[in-house]
Amino acid sequence: MKNIYGLKGNFVYTQDFGKFKIEENKIIIIENGIIKGIYNELPFHYKDIKVIDYKDKLIIPGFVDLHLHAPQFPNMGLGVDKELIPWLNCYTFPEESKYSDLKYAERVYRLLIKELWNVGTTRCCVFSTIHKDSTKLLFDLFNESGLGAYVGKVNMDRECPDVLIEDTIQSLKETELIAKEYINKYSLVKPIITPRFVPSCSFEMLKGLGEIAEKYDLPVQSHLCENTNEIEFVKTLEPESKNYSDVYYKANLFRENKTIMAHCIWLNENEIELLSKSKVFVAHCPTSNLNLSSGIAPIRKLIEKGINVGLASDISGGHTLSMPEVIVSSAQVSNLKWLYSNKTDEKLSTAELFYLATKGGGKFFGKVGSFEEGYEFDALVIDDMALNINNNLSLEERVQKFLYKGKEKNIIERYVRGNVVKEPKI
Ligand code: GUN
Ligand code: FE
Repeated sequence: MKNIYGLKGNFVYTQDFGKFKIEENKIIIIENGIIKGIYNELPFHYKDIKVIDYKDKLIIPGFVDLHLHAPQFPNMGLGVDKELIPWLNCYTFPEESKYSDLKYAERVYRLLIKELWNVGTTRCCVFSTIHKDSTKLLFDLFNESGLGAYVGKVNMDRECPDVLIEDTIQSLKETELIAKEYINKYSLVKPIITPRFVPSCSFEMLKGLGEIAEKYDLPVQSHLCENTNEIEFVKTLEPESKNYSDVYYKANLFRENKTIMAHCIWLNENEIELLSKSKVFVAHCPTSNLNLSSGIAPIRKLIEKGINVGLASDISGGHTLSMPEVIVSSAQVSNLKWLYSNKTDEKLSTAELFYLATKGGGKFFGKVGSFEEGYEFDALVIDDMALNINNNLSLEERVQKFLYKGKEKNIIERYVRGNVVKEPKI
């Protein structure tokens, strides 16, 4: 049976990179979760459907967080005065070792999902830990919530504390078991192959994961060129490879339009070409990159090379799950990059960053992150009355104001694939 309804309000989205599309006081029609169109008046053949009138409120696409670590939720705001490797050793690995305990995992994962809901993230790509059972629990809890997610069991077989080192064969076996169990189990929550990064994975592990990804046609996520010490470490571990990217490439982990690499701050020209040619997505994580003193990624350059980019919180390198806060950080690092490049590296505008946080990352999920016909209807309804002291703001200015000054309480409804998502129980 067809489920058709309409919503009335002010729609703001970015069909094209850098350009807000404004549909003021319009009606959107949703059929089985998919957008049929946006109209000035209710078309005659829809005259009997239910239309929810949101009056003067803003309706924007839900946010997409392209990279985050679920087990690091309790660590947000801790150790963020360190660099990557000491931070991993002092804070991250000790916390991640706790997720063999299912009770502990359940408590944290429920809180995490509730906070994702709270901040208006409707889709995300998530790392769990090496632990099979708590990873399965994370799939189930996301499904229960109604939010969309790719969930990956992390693989690690070298250069980390004993409690987190996996046997390579066993790790690959468990990864394949999860893939088989979850590939068709849920419609909004799907598995993703997740080698932590090259320093934590032997080449045998990476190759094995590349084979599983190929066999089940699965997406892949990992980290790349985040920190200069990390890159030096990769050179000593994989001296045969041309560069860091080449290690993943040789393991068949650069899957066309199906791989996300987080960070990509220090890529050389050959690596940028390789990522572009391989159609790898980049997850830009500016809050994390600021906290861990990692650097500023060359986002405009990557986009100009044809690379798909999305934004990401990377908690707990990042200290917040809020994508509006990530947008603000992205703008600020881009402003500094512009200034320190003698004003040659053009800044990223609010409309460009809004695109990256919605349609840019949404592309990884299919037709997600926009209000064009045929897109899945993921949306946030925003009551920004209290934010507007000056009532003459344009809709575009109201969106900017919400991104910079809005709070979670301004989001009064969340939709994922056409369904209202209620506050998750904890
Ligand atoms: N590189 C390898 N593991 C991690 C992690 O957990 N967070 C970040 N930011 N970088 C990593
Ligand atoms: Fe990360």
